[in-house]
Amino acid sequence: MIDFYLNGKRQRLTHVSADTSILELVRGQLAQTGTKEGCASGDCGACTVAIGEPDANGEIRYQSANSCVTPAHQLNGCHLVTVEGLADDKHLHPAQAAMVECHGSQCGFCTPGIVMSLFTLYEEQNRHEDQNKPVGQPRAPLTQEKLESALGGNLCRCTGYRPIRDAALTMQDYPKATPAWAANAALGTDVAALAKDASDTSCQSDGAGYAMPRDIAALRELKAKRPGARLVAGGTDLWLETTQQVKDLVDIIDVRRVAELTEIDEADTGWWIGASVTLSQLTPLLAEHYPAFEHLMHRFASSQIRNRATLGGNVANASPIGDTPPVLLALDAHLRLDGPRGSRELPLADFFLDYKKTALEEDEFIAAIFLPRPAAEQNLKVWKLSKRREDDISAVLGAFAWRLEGGLMRDVHLAFGGMAGIPRRAPDAEAALEGSRPDAAAFARARAALAKELSPMADARGSAEYRTLAAGNLLERLRLMIAAESRPASNDSAHSQTHHDNKNGTATKVTLDAYAH
Ligand SMILES: Cc1cc2nc3c(=O)[nH]c(=O)nc-3n(C[C@H](O)[C@H](O)[C@H](O)COP(=O)(O)OP(=O)(O)OC[C@H]3O[C@@H](n4cnc5c(N)ncnc54)[C@H](O)[C@@H]3O)c2cc1C
Ligand code: FES
Ligand code: FES
Repeated sequence: MIDFYLNGKRQRLTHVSADTSILELVRGQLAQTGTKEGCASGDCGACTVAIGEPDANGEIRYQSANSCVTPAHQLNGCHLVTVEGLADDKHLHPAQAAMVECHGSQCGFCTPGIVMSLFTLYEEQNRHEDQNKPVGQPRAPLTQEKLESALGGNLCRCTGYRPIRDAALTMQDYPKATPAWAANAALGTDVAALAKDASDTSCQSDGAGYAMPRDIAALRELKAKRPGARLVAGGTDLWLETTQQVKDLVDIIDVRRVAELTEIDEADTGWWIGASVTLSQLTPLLAEHYPAFEHLMHRFASSQIRNRATLGGNVANASPIGDTPPVLLALDAHLRLDGPRGSRELPLADFFLDYKKTALEEDEFIAAIFLPRPAAEQNLKVWKLSKRREDDISAVLGAFAWRLEGGLMRDVHLAFGGMAGIPRRAPDAEAALEGSRPDAAAFARARAALAKELSPMADARGSAEYRTLAAGNLLERLRLMIAAESRPASNDSAHSQTHHDNKNGTATKVTLDAYAH
Protein backbone atom coordinates (compact mmCIF):
# COMPACT_ATOMS: atom_id res chain seq x y z
CA MET A 1 0.00 0.00 0.00
CA ILE A 2 1.06 3.59 -0.63
CA ASP A 3 -0.28 5.88 2.09
CA PHE A 4 0.12 9.60 1.39
CA TYR A 5 -1.65 12.91 0.81
CA LEU A 6 -2.41 14.25 -2.66
CA ASN A 7 -3.27 17.96 -2.69
CA GLY A 8 -4.38 17.64 0.94
CA LYS A 9 -6.48 14.46 0.57
CA ARG A 10 -5.35 11.18 2.12
CA GLN A 11 -4.80 8.36 -0.39
CA ARG A 12 -4.33 4.71 0.46
CA LEU A 13 -3.50 2.83 -2.71
CA THR A 14 -3.03 -0.90 -2.91
CA HIS A 15 -1.65 -3.08 -5.70
CA VAL A 16 0.77 -0.53 -7.08
CA SER A 17 3.55 -2.44 -8.82
CA ALA A 18 7.10 -1.91 -7.58
CA ASP A 19 8.30 -0.07 -10.67
CA THR A 20 5.45 2.42 -11.00
CA SER A 21 6.58 6.05 -11.19
CA ILE A 22 4.76 8.94 -9.54
CA LEU A 23 3.89 10.19 -13.03
CA GLU A 24 2.23 6.90 -13.98
CA LEU A 25 0.33 6.89 -10.69
CA VAL A 26 -1.04 10.44 -10.92
CA ARG A 27 -1.97 10.33 -14.59
CA GLY A 28 -3.28 6.74 -14.44
CA GLN A 29 -4.84 5.50 -11.21
CA LEU A 30 -5.41 9.01 -9.79
CA ALA A 31 -6.62 10.50 -13.10
CA GLN A 32 -4.86 13.84 -12.50
CA THR A 33 -3.66 14.63 -16.00
CA GLY A 34 -2.33 18.15 -15.41
CA THR A 35 1.15 16.70 -14.91
CA LYS A 36 2.64 16.03 -18.35
CA GLU A 37 5.01 13.43 -19.74
CA GLY A 38 7.61 14.81 -22.14
CA CYS A 39 10.84 12.82 -22.14
CA ALA A 40 10.30 10.25 -19.34
CA SER A 41 13.98 10.59 -18.51
CA GLY A 42 14.21 13.52 -16.09
CA ASP A 43 15.39 15.96 -18.76
CA CYS A 44 12.48 18.21 -19.75
CA GLY A 45 10.71 19.03 -16.47
CA ALA A 46 7.16 18.72 -17.90
CA CYS A 47 6.38 16.17 -15.19
CA THR A 48 7.57 18.33 -12.27
CA VAL A 49 5.63 17.92 -9.02
CA ALA A 50 6.26 19.13 -5.48
CA ILE A 51 6.91 16.54 -2.80
CA GLY A 52 6.36 17.71 0.78
CA GLU A 53 8.29 15.87 3.49
CA PRO A 54 8.86 16.84 7.13
CA ASP A 55 12.28 18.40 7.75
CA ALA A 56 14.34 17.95 10.93
CA ASN A 57 11.96 20.35 12.77
CA GLY A 58 8.87 18.47 11.60
CA GLU A 59 7.94 21.30 9.22
CA ILE A 60 6.76 20.20 5.77
CA ARG A 61 9.22 21.28 3.12
CA TYR A 62 8.24 21.16 -0.55
CA GLN A 63 10.84 20.22 -3.13
CA SER A 64 10.49 19.86 -6.87
CA ALA A 65 10.98 16.42 -8.39
CA ASN A 66 10.72 14.80 -11.80
CA SER A 67 7.74 12.50 -11.29
CA CYS A 68 8.73 10.37 -14.31
CA VAL A 69 11.86 9.04 -12.58
CA THR A 70 10.64 8.99 -8.97
CA PRO A 71 9.27 5.72 -7.58
CA ALA A 72 5.59 5.99 -6.62
CA HIS A 73 6.27 4.04 -3.40
CA GLN A 74 8.46 6.91 -2.21
CA LEU A 75 5.26 8.91 -1.73
CA ASN A 76 4.60 6.97 1.46
CA GLY A 77 4.21 9.49 4.27
CA CYS A 78 4.53 12.51 1.94
CA HIS A 79 2.29 15.31 0.72
CA LEU A 80 2.27 15.37 -3.08
CA VAL A 81 1.23 18.66 -4.65
CA THR A 82 0.41 18.67 -8.36
CA VAL A 83 -0.65 21.55 -10.58
CA GLU A 84 -4.30 20.73 -9.78
CA GLY A 85 -3.66 21.62 -6.13
CA LEU A 86 -2.43 25.21 -6.44
CA ALA A 87 -5.43 27.51 -7.00
CA ASP A 88 -8.27 28.22 -4.59
CA ASP A 89 -11.88 28.98 -5.63
CA LYS A 90 -11.12 32.61 -6.39
CA HIS A 91 -7.44 32.96 -7.16
CA LEU A 92 -4.76 31.31 -9.15
CA HIS A 93 -1.58 30.62 -7.22
CA PRO A 94 0.85 33.57 -7.68
CA ALA A 95 3.07 31.32 -9.83
CA GLN A 96 0.11 30.68 -12.16
CA ALA A 97 -1.15 34.29 -12.14
CA ALA A 98 2.31 35.62 -13.00
CA MET A 99 2.68 33.11 -15.85
CA VAL A 100 -0.66 34.30 -17.30
CA GLU A 101 0.14 38.01 -16.94
CA CYS A 102 3.67 37.65 -18.34
CA HIS A 103 2.51 35.53 -21.30
CA GLY A 104 4.69 32.68 -20.10
CA SER A 105 2.75 29.96 -21.92
CA GLN A 106 2.02 29.20 -25.58
CA CYS A 107 1.25 25.56 -26.42
CA GLY A 108 1.11 24.94 -22.67
CA PHE A 109 2.78 21.55 -22.60
CA CYS A 110 5.68 22.63 -20.40
CA THR A 111 3.53 25.00 -18.32
CA PRO A 112 2.38 22.71 -15.48
CA GLY A 113 5.99 21.68 -14.87
CA ILE A 114 7.22 25.27 -14.95
CA VAL A 115 4.44 26.35 -12.60
CA MET A 116 5.38 23.60 -10.15
CA SER A 117 9.05 24.65 -10.24
CA LEU A 118 7.93 28.23 -9.57
CA PHE A 119 5.66 26.99 -6.76
CA THR A 120 8.58 25.34 -4.93
CA LEU A 121 10.68 28.46 -5.46
CA TYR A 122 7.82 30.56 -4.04
CA GLU A 123 7.44 28.26 -1.04
CA GLU A 124 11.18 28.32 -0.37
CA GLN A 125 11.29 32.11 -0.59
CA ASN A 126 8.42 32.48 1.84
CA ARG A 127 9.53 29.82 4.28
CA HIS A 128 10.37 31.17 7.71
CA GLU A 129 8.97 34.47 6.55
CA ASP A 130 10.32 37.41 8.46
CA GLN A 131 7.41 38.47 10.66
CA ASN A 132 8.30 42.14 10.21
CA LYS A 133 7.89 42.03 6.46
CA PRO A 134 4.51 42.44 4.75
CA VAL A 135 2.81 39.14 3.96
CA GLY A 136 3.87 37.74 0.62
CA GLN A 137 7.15 39.63 0.47
CA PRO A 138 10.08 37.26 0.11
CA ARG A 139 12.60 37.11 2.90
CA ALA A 140 15.53 37.38 0.53
CA PRO A 141 15.58 38.86 -2.98
CA LEU A 142 15.46 36.39 -5.85
CA THR A 143 19.02 36.15 -7.14
CA GLN A 144 19.92 35.15 -10.69
CA GLU A 145 21.54 32.00 -9.27
CA LYS A 146 18.37 30.94 -7.42
CA LEU A 147 16.22 31.67 -10.44
CA GLU A 148 18.45 29.65 -12.76
CA SER A 149 18.61 26.85 -10.24
CA ALA A 150 14.80 26.72 -9.91
CA LEU A 151 14.12 26.75 -13.66
CA GLY A 152 17.25 25.03 -15.05
CA GLY A 153 15.42 21.68 -15.26
CA ASN A 154 12.43 22.94 -17.28
CA LEU A 155 12.54 23.11 -21.07
CA CYS A 156 10.10 25.16 -23.15
CA ARG A 157 10.17 24.73 -26.89
CA CYS A 158 7.93 27.63 -27.90
CA THR A 159 7.51 30.54 -25.46
CA GLY A 160 11.11 31.56 -24.92
CA TYR A 161 12.43 31.95 -21.43
CA ARG A 162 12.18 35.71 -21.00
CA PRO A 163 8.43 35.76 -20.11
CA ILE A 164 8.91 32.77 -17.81
CA ARG A 165 11.78 34.53 -16.08
CA ASP A 166 9.57 37.65 -15.75
CA ALA A 167 6.89 35.49 -14.11
CA ALA A 168 9.45 34.22 -11.59
CA LEU A 169 10.59 37.75 -10.83
CA THR A 170 7.07 39.14 -10.33
CA MET A 171 5.12 36.26 -8.75
CA GLN A 172 5.59 37.65 -5.25
CA ASP A 173 3.43 40.66 -6.25
CA TYR A 174 0.25 38.59 -6.71
CA PRO A 175 -2.33 37.82 -3.99
CA LYS A 176 -1.70 34.54 -2.25
CA ALA A 177 -4.15 31.76 -3.11
CA THR A 178 -5.15 29.51 -0.25
CA PRO A 179 -6.20 26.11 -1.56
CA ALA A 180 -8.09 23.94 0.94
CA TRP A 181 -4.96 21.97 1.86
CA ALA A 182 -2.99 25.12 2.68
CA ALA A 183 -5.84 26.34 4.91
CA ASN A 184 -5.82 23.06 6.85
CA ALA A 185 -3.59 23.83 9.85
CA ALA A 186 -3.48 20.16 10.88
CA LEU A 187 -2.07 18.90 7.57
CA GLY A 188 1.58 19.37 8.56
CA THR A 189 1.12 17.35 11.75
CA ASP A 190 -0.85 14.68 9.90
CA VAL A 191 1.83 14.28 7.22
CA ALA A 192 4.60 14.23 9.85
CA ALA A 193 2.72 11.50 11.78
CA LEU A 194 2.22 9.48 8.62
CA ALA A 195 5.87 9.89 7.62
CA LYS A 196 6.97 8.50 10.96
CA ASP A 197 5.55 5.04 10.41
CA ALA A 198 4.54 5.02 6.77
CA SER A 199 6.86 2.30 5.60
CA ASP A 200 5.94 0.02 8.51
CA THR A 201 2.35 -0.04 7.32
CA SER A 202 3.04 -0.64 3.69
CA CYS A 203 6.31 -1.70 2.24
CA GLN A 204 7.92 -4.27 4.47
CA SER A 205 7.70 -7.46 2.56
CA ASP A 206 9.85 -10.58 2.46
CA GLY A 207 8.80 -11.62 -0.99
CA ALA A 208 9.68 -9.70 -4.15
CA GLY A 209 8.15 -6.26 -4.33
CA TYR A 210 8.99 -2.84 -2.96
CA ALA A 211 10.57 -2.86 0.48
CA MET A 212 11.41 0.30 2.39
CA PRO A 213 13.54 -0.53 5.45
CA ARG A 214 13.95 2.18 8.10
CA ASP A 215 17.22 1.13 9.69
CA ILE A 216 20.47 -0.51 8.68
CA ALA A 217 19.70 -3.78 10.51
CA ALA A 218 16.50 -4.20 8.46
CA LEU A 219 18.41 -3.35 5.28
CA ARG A 220 21.09 -5.96 6.04
CA GLU A 221 18.37 -8.55 6.67
CA LEU A 222 16.61 -7.76 3.41
CA LYS A 223 19.90 -7.87 1.50
CA ALA A 224 20.64 -11.31 2.99
CA LYS A 225 17.22 -12.62 1.95
CA ARG A 226 17.06 -10.90 -1.42
CA PRO A 227 20.65 -10.36 -2.64
CA GLY A 228 19.43 -9.93 -6.21
CA ALA A 229 16.96 -7.15 -5.38
CA ARG A 230 17.80 -3.77 -6.94
CA LEU A 231 18.60 -0.96 -4.53
CA VAL A 232 17.00 2.39 -5.18
CA ALA A 233 17.81 5.69 -3.52
CA GLY A 234 16.69 8.70 -5.58
CA GLY A 235 15.86 6.58 -8.62
CA THR A 236 17.34 9.16 -11.02
CA ASP A 237 19.57 6.54 -12.63
CA LEU A 238 17.74 3.31 -11.84
CA TRP A 239 14.33 4.46 -13.05
CA LEU A 240 15.69 5.09 -16.54
CA GLU A 241 15.90 1.28 -16.83
CA THR A 242 12.11 1.18 -16.73
CA THR A 243 11.36 4.28 -18.80
CA GLN A 244 14.14 4.03 -21.41
CA GLN A 245 15.01 0.32 -21.51
CA VAL A 246 11.46 -0.84 -20.69
CA LYS A 247 12.73 -3.28 -18.06
CA ASP A 248 10.40 -4.64 -15.38
CA LEU A 249 11.86 -3.97 -11.94
CA VAL A 250 9.98 -6.38 -9.73
CA ASP A 251 12.21 -6.63 -6.69
CA ILE A 252 13.31 -3.34 -5.17
CA ILE A 253 14.80 -2.33 -1.83
CA ASP A 254 14.54 1.38 -1.14
CA VAL A 255 17.46 2.79 0.89
CA ARG A 256 16.22 6.38 0.97
CA ARG A 257 14.80 6.22 4.51
CA VAL A 258 17.39 4.01 6.18
CA ALA A 259 18.15 6.29 9.14
CA GLU A 260 21.89 5.59 9.31
CA LEU A 261 22.26 6.26 5.58
CA THR A 262 20.65 9.68 5.76
CA GLU A 263 22.99 11.19 8.36
CA ILE A 264 26.13 13.29 8.07
CA ASP A 265 28.50 12.51 10.96
CA GLU A 266 31.27 14.98 11.63
CA ALA A 267 34.61 13.49 12.72
CA ASP A 268 37.89 15.27 13.57
CA THR A 269 39.36 14.41 10.20
CA GLY A 270 36.29 14.82 7.98
CA TRP A 271 32.67 13.81 7.46
CA TRP A 272 30.96 10.46 7.04
CA ILE A 273 28.21 11.27 4.57
CA GLY A 274 25.40 8.71 4.57
CA ALA A 275 24.94 7.17 1.13
CA SER A 276 21.30 8.34 0.96
CA VAL A 277 22.10 11.99 1.66
CA THR A 278 20.77 13.91 -1.34
CA LEU A 279 22.91 16.31 -3.32
CA SER A 280 20.66 19.18 -2.19
CA GLN A 281 21.22 18.18 1.46
CA LEU A 282 24.98 17.93 0.90
CA THR A 283 25.34 21.35 -0.71
CA PRO A 284 25.55 23.52 2.48
CA LEU A 285 28.43 21.40 3.84
CA LEU A 286 30.29 21.67 0.54
CA ALA A 287 29.65 25.42 0.40
CA GLU A 288 31.30 25.83 3.79
CA HIS A 289 34.30 23.56 3.31
CA TYR A 290 34.79 22.89 -0.40
CA PRO A 291 33.32 25.80 -2.36
CA ALA A 292 34.76 24.53 -5.66
CA PHE A 293 32.89 21.23 -5.12
CA GLU A 294 29.73 23.16 -4.22
CA HIS A 295 29.97 25.18 -7.44
CA LEU A 296 29.97 21.91 -9.35
CA MET A 297 26.56 21.13 -7.82
CA HIS A 298 25.07 24.02 -9.82
CA ARG A 299 26.17 22.17 -12.95
CA PHE A 300 24.90 18.78 -11.75
CA ALA A 301 21.59 18.03 -13.50
CA SER A 302 18.72 20.22 -12.24
CA SER A 303 17.07 21.10 -8.93
CA GLN A 304 14.48 18.40 -9.53
CA ILE A 305 17.23 15.78 -9.84
CA ARG A 306 19.47 17.12 -7.06
CA ASN A 307 16.51 17.09 -4.65
CA ARG A 308 16.19 13.30 -5.09
CA ALA A 309 19.62 12.08 -6.30
CA THR A 310 22.00 10.84 -3.61
CA LEU A 311 25.77 10.84 -3.25
CA GLY A 312 25.73 7.06 -2.73
CA GLY A 313 23.71 6.57 -5.92
CA ASN A 314 26.18 8.67 -7.92
CA VAL A 315 29.11 6.60 -6.63
CA ALA A 316 27.39 3.19 -6.87
CA ASN A 317 26.22 3.91 -10.39
CA ALA A 318 29.93 3.88 -11.34
CA SER A 319 29.43 5.87 -14.50
CA PRO A 320 32.70 7.01 -16.07
CA ILE A 321 31.03 10.41 -16.53
CA GLY A 322 29.46 10.72 -13.06
CA ASP A 323 30.34 14.11 -11.60
CA THR A 324 31.16 13.51 -7.95
CA PRO A 325 33.55 10.50 -8.23
CA PRO A 326 36.48 12.45 -9.77
CA VAL A 327 36.18 15.13 -7.08
CA LEU A 328 35.98 12.51 -4.34
CA LEU A 329 39.02 10.74 -5.86
CA ALA A 330 41.00 13.99 -5.91
CA LEU A 331 40.13 14.47 -2.23
CA ASP A 332 41.09 10.89 -1.23
CA ALA A 333 37.59 9.92 -0.14
CA HIS A 334 36.86 6.40 1.03
CA LEU A 335 33.76 4.29 1.47
CA ARG A 336 32.10 2.26 4.17
CA LEU A 337 30.49 -0.79 2.60
CA ASP A 338 28.03 -2.81 4.67
CA GLY A 339 26.03 -5.99 4.43
CA PRO A 340 24.90 -9.11 6.30
CA ARG A 341 28.56 -10.13 6.80
CA GLY A 342 29.53 -6.84 8.47
CA SER A 343 31.10 -3.63 7.27
CA ARG A 344 34.45 -2.77 5.67
CA GLU A 345 36.22 0.35 4.52
CA LEU A 346 37.68 0.81 1.08
CA PRO A 347 39.53 3.68 -0.63
CA LEU A 348 37.28 5.02 -3.38
CA ALA A 349 40.14 4.46 -5.84
CA ASP A 350 39.78 0.69 -5.24
CA PHE A 351 36.00 0.72 -5.69
CA PHE A 352 35.82 1.24 -9.46
CA LEU A 353 37.09 -1.93 -11.17
CA ASP A 354 36.00 -1.66 -14.78
CA TYR A 355 33.24 -0.03 -16.82
CA LYS A 356 30.22 -0.05 -14.44
CA LYS A 357 31.89 -2.79 -12.34
CA THR A 358 32.61 -2.10 -8.67
CA ALA A 359 34.09 -3.88 -5.67
CA LEU A 360 30.62 -4.19 -4.10
CA GLU A 361 29.66 -7.80 -3.33
CA GLU A 362 26.14 -8.90 -4.28
CA ASP A 363 24.79 -8.63 -0.73
CA GLU A 364 26.59 -5.38 0.10
CA PHE A 365 25.58 -1.74 -0.11
CA ILE A 366 27.37 1.58 0.33
CA ALA A 367 26.63 2.85 3.84
CA ALA A 368 28.64 6.07 3.80
CA ILE A 369 31.27 8.09 1.98
CA PHE A 370 34.10 9.68 3.98
CA LEU A 371 35.03 13.18 2.83
CA PRO A 372 38.32 14.29 4.45
CA ARG A 373 38.65 17.85 5.74
CA PRO A 374 40.63 20.20 3.52
CA ALA A 375 44.32 19.90 4.40
CA ALA A 376 46.20 23.08 5.32
CA GLU A 377 46.76 25.24 2.22
CA GLN A 378 45.08 22.64 0.02
CA ASN A 379 43.73 23.95 -3.27
CA LEU A 380 40.88 22.42 -5.23
CA LYS A 381 39.68 23.23 -8.70
CA VAL A 382 36.87 21.45 -10.51
CA TRP A 383 35.92 21.99 -14.14
CA LYS A 384 33.08 20.26 -15.94
CA LEU A 385 32.91 20.37 -19.73
CA SER A 386 29.48 19.75 -21.21
CA LYS A 387 27.53 20.95 -24.21
CA ARG A 388 24.94 22.80 -22.12
CA ARG A 389 25.45 24.64 -18.87
CA GLU A 390 22.30 23.42 -17.14
CA ASP A 391 21.12 19.85 -16.86
CA ASP A 392 23.77 18.13 -18.94
CA ILE A 393 26.16 15.24 -18.39
CA SER A 394 29.93 15.80 -18.54
CA ALA A 395 32.01 15.07 -21.60
CA VAL A 396 35.11 15.56 -19.45
CA LEU A 397 35.43 16.55 -15.81
CA GLY A 398 38.74 17.45 -14.17
CA ALA A 399 39.19 17.70 -10.40
CA PHE A 400 42.59 18.90 -9.23
CA ALA A 401 43.90 19.11 -5.66
CA TRP A 402 47.39 20.26 -4.63
CA ARG A 403 49.24 22.61 -2.31
CA LEU A 404 52.24 24.83 -2.83
CA GLU A 405 55.22 24.47 -0.49
CA GLY A 406 58.10 26.83 -1.11
CA GLY A 407 56.83 27.34 -4.65
CA LEU A 408 56.78 23.59 -5.39
CA MET A 409 53.63 21.54 -6.03
CA ARG A 410 52.95 18.91 -3.37
CA ASP A 411 50.24 16.29 -2.83
CA VAL A 412 49.13 16.64 -6.44
CA HIS A 413 45.94 14.72 -7.17
CA LEU A 414 44.57 14.88 -10.71
CA ALA A 415 41.30 13.00 -11.25
CA PHE A 416 39.17 12.80 -14.37
CA GLY A 417 35.74 11.73 -15.51
CA GLY A 418 35.13 10.79 -19.15
CA MET A 419 38.77 9.85 -19.74
CA ALA A 420 38.56 6.06 -19.18
CA GLY A 421 35.96 3.35 -18.56
CA ILE A 422 35.95 4.42 -14.90
CA PRO A 423 36.49 7.69 -13.07
CA ARG A 424 40.20 7.66 -12.19
CA ARG A 425 43.32 9.51 -11.17
CA ALA A 426 46.24 10.09 -13.52
CA PRO A 427 49.30 8.97 -11.50
CA ASP A 428 51.91 9.62 -14.24
CA ALA A 429 50.67 13.15 -14.82
CA GLU A 430 50.62 13.67 -11.04
CA ALA A 431 54.24 12.46 -10.80
CA ALA A 432 55.25 14.94 -13.50
CA LEU A 433 54.01 17.80 -11.29
CA GLU A 434 54.84 16.49 -7.83
CA GLY A 435 57.74 18.48 -6.37
CA SER A 436 57.98 20.72 -9.46
CA ARG A 437 57.44 24.42 -9.91
CA PRO A 438 54.07 24.95 -11.63
CA ASP A 439 55.77 26.11 -14.82
CA ALA A 440 55.18 25.45 -18.50
CA ALA A 441 57.83 22.69 -18.69
CA ALA A 442 56.33 20.68 -15.79
CA PHE A 443 52.81 21.02 -17.19
CA ALA A 444 53.97 20.00 -20.67
CA ARG A 445 55.41 16.81 -19.12
CA ALA A 446 52.13 16.24 -17.23
CA ARG A 447 50.09 16.74 -20.37
CA ALA A 448 52.23 14.28 -22.34
CA ALA A 449 51.92 11.72 -19.52
CA LEU A 450 48.16 12.21 -19.38
CA ALA A 451 47.76 11.56 -23.11
CA LYS A 452 49.64 8.26 -22.68
CA GLU A 453 48.03 6.93 -19.52
CA LEU A 454 44.32 7.61 -20.19
CA SER A 455 42.28 6.19 -23.08
CA PRO A 456 39.00 8.03 -23.28
CA MET A 457 35.89 6.59 -24.88
CA ALA A 458 34.19 8.10 -27.91
CA ASP A 459 30.46 8.80 -27.78
CA ALA A 460 27.87 11.46 -28.62
CA ARG A 461 29.43 13.78 -26.05
CA GLY A 462 32.88 13.79 -27.63
CA SER A 463 35.41 11.80 -29.63
CA ALA A 464 38.42 10.26 -27.90
CA GLU A 465 40.65 12.91 -29.58
CA TYR A 466 38.43 15.74 -28.32
CA ARG A 467 38.50 14.36 -24.79
CA THR A 468 42.29 13.98 -24.74
CA LEU A 469 42.72 17.51 -26.06
CA ALA A 470 40.13 18.92 -23.62
CA ALA A 471 41.69 17.17 -20.58
CA GLY A 472 45.12 18.49 -21.60
CA ASN A 473 43.63 21.96 -21.96
CA LEU A 474 42.22 21.72 -18.43
CA LEU A 475 45.78 21.12 -17.20
CA GLU A 476 46.94 24.17 -19.14
CA ARG A 477 44.10 26.15 -17.60
CA LEU A 478 45.23 24.99 -14.18
CA ARG A 479 48.78 26.22 -14.91
CA LEU A 480 47.49 29.61 -16.05
CA MET A 481 45.28 29.97 -12.98
CA ILE A 482 48.10 29.09 -10.59
CA ALA A 483 50.30 31.65 -12.37
CA ALA A 484 47.52 34.26 -12.19
CA GLU A 485 46.92 33.58 -8.51
CA SER A 486 50.58 34.00 -7.63
CA ARG A 487 50.62 37.48 -9.21
CA PRO A 488 49.61 40.44 -6.98
CA ALA A 489 45.96 40.09 -5.92
CA SER A 490 44.76 43.25 -7.73
CA ASN A 491 45.30 41.58 -11.14
CA ASP A 492 43.01 38.67 -10.49
CA SER A 493 40.60 39.50 -7.75
CA ALA A 494 37.68 39.08 -10.14
CA HIS A 495 38.62 35.49 -10.85
CA SER A 496 39.55 33.87 -7.61
CA GLN A 497 39.36 34.17 -3.88
CA THR A 498 40.69 32.37 -0.86
CA HIS A 499 38.07 30.73 1.29
CA HIS A 500 39.05 30.71 4.95
CA ASP A 501 37.69 27.92 7.04
CA ASN A 502 37.56 29.40 10.52
CA LYS A 503 36.96 26.10 12.25
CA ASN A 504 40.27 24.46 11.43
CA GLY A 505 42.31 27.42 10.28
CA THR A 506 42.90 26.01 6.82
CA ALA A 507 42.42 27.88 3.59
CA THR A 508 41.02 26.48 0.38
CA LYS A 509 41.47 28.54 -2.75
CA VAL A 510 38.35 28.46 -4.85
CA THR A 511 37.61 29.39 -8.39
CA LEU A 512 34.67 31.63 -9.06
CA ASP A 513 34.36 30.61 -12.68
CA ALA A 514 33.36 26.98 -12.01
CA TYR A 515 30.32 27.66 -14.20
CA ALA A 516 32.50 27.99 -17.28
CA HIS A 517 32.06 25.32 -19.89
C1 LIG B 1 18.11 14.31 -16.25
C2 LIG B 1 19.28 13.73 -15.52
C3 LIG B 1 20.43 14.49 -15.39
C4 LIG B 1 21.54 13.96 -14.73
N1 LIG B 1 22.65 14.73 -14.63
C5 LIG B 1 23.73 14.25 -13.99
C6 LIG B 1 24.90 15.05 -13.87
O1 LIG B 1 24.94 16.22 -14.28
N2 LIG B 1 25.97 14.47 -13.26
C7 LIG B 1 25.96 13.21 -12.79
O2 LIG B 1 26.96 12.74 -12.24
N3 LIG B 1 24.86 12.44 -12.87
C8 LIG B 1 23.75 12.93 -13.46
N4 LIG B 1 22.63 12.15 -13.56
C9 LIG B 1 22.62 10.79 -13.01
C10 LIG B 1 22.03 10.64 -11.60
O3 LIG B 1 21.19 11.72 -11.27
C11 LIG B 1 23.13 10.54 -10.53
O4 LIG B 1 24.01 9.49 -10.82
C12 LIG B 1 22.56 10.39 -9.12
O5 LIG B 1 23.50 10.79 -8.15
C13 LIG B 1 22.10 8.96 -8.80
O6 LIG B 1 21.63 8.93 -7.47
P1 LIG B 1 20.23 8.24 -7.11
O7 LIG B 1 20.09 8.33 -5.64
O8 LIG B 1 19.14 8.80 -7.91
O9 LIG B 1 20.55 6.76 -7.56
P2 LIG B 1 19.55 5.59 -7.97
O10 LIG B 1 19.04 5.81 -9.34
O11 LIG B 1 18.58 5.33 -6.91
O12 LIG B 1 20.61 4.39 -8.00
C14 LIG B 1 21.69 4.40 -8.92
C15 LIG B 1 22.46 3.07 -8.80
O13 LIG B 1 23.09 3.00 -7.53
C16 LIG B 1 22.61 1.87 -6.79
N5 LIG B 1 22.55 2.31 -5.40
C17 LIG B 1 21.83 3.37 -4.90
N6 LIG B 1 22.12 3.53 -3.58
C18 LIG B 1 23.01 2.55 -3.26
C19 LIG B 1 23.70 2.18 -2.06
N7 LIG B 1 23.53 2.85 -0.92
N8 LIG B 1 24.54 1.13 -2.10
C20 LIG B 1 24.75 0.44 -3.25
N9 LIG B 1 24.13 0.74 -4.40
C21 LIG B 1 23.29 1.77 -4.41
C22 LIG B 1 21.30 1.50 -7.43
O14 LIG B 1 21.00 0.14 -7.26
C23 LIG B 1 21.55 1.87 -8.88
O15 LIG B 1 22.25 0.84 -9.51
C24 LIG B 1 21.49 12.66 -14.20
C25 LIG B 1 20.32 11.89 -14.30
C26 LIG B 1 19.23 12.42 -14.95
C27 LIG B 1 17.97 11.60 -15.05
S1 FES C 1 8.77 13.78 -18.51
FE1 FES C 1 10.54 14.99 -19.00
S2 FES C 1 11.42 15.23 -17.03
FE2 FES C 1 9.83 13.86 -16.66
S1 FES D 1 4.68 26.70 -24.04
FE1 FES D 1 5.02 25.16 -25.52
S2 FES D 1 6.65 24.02 -24.70
FE2 FES D 1 6.54 25.72 -23.43
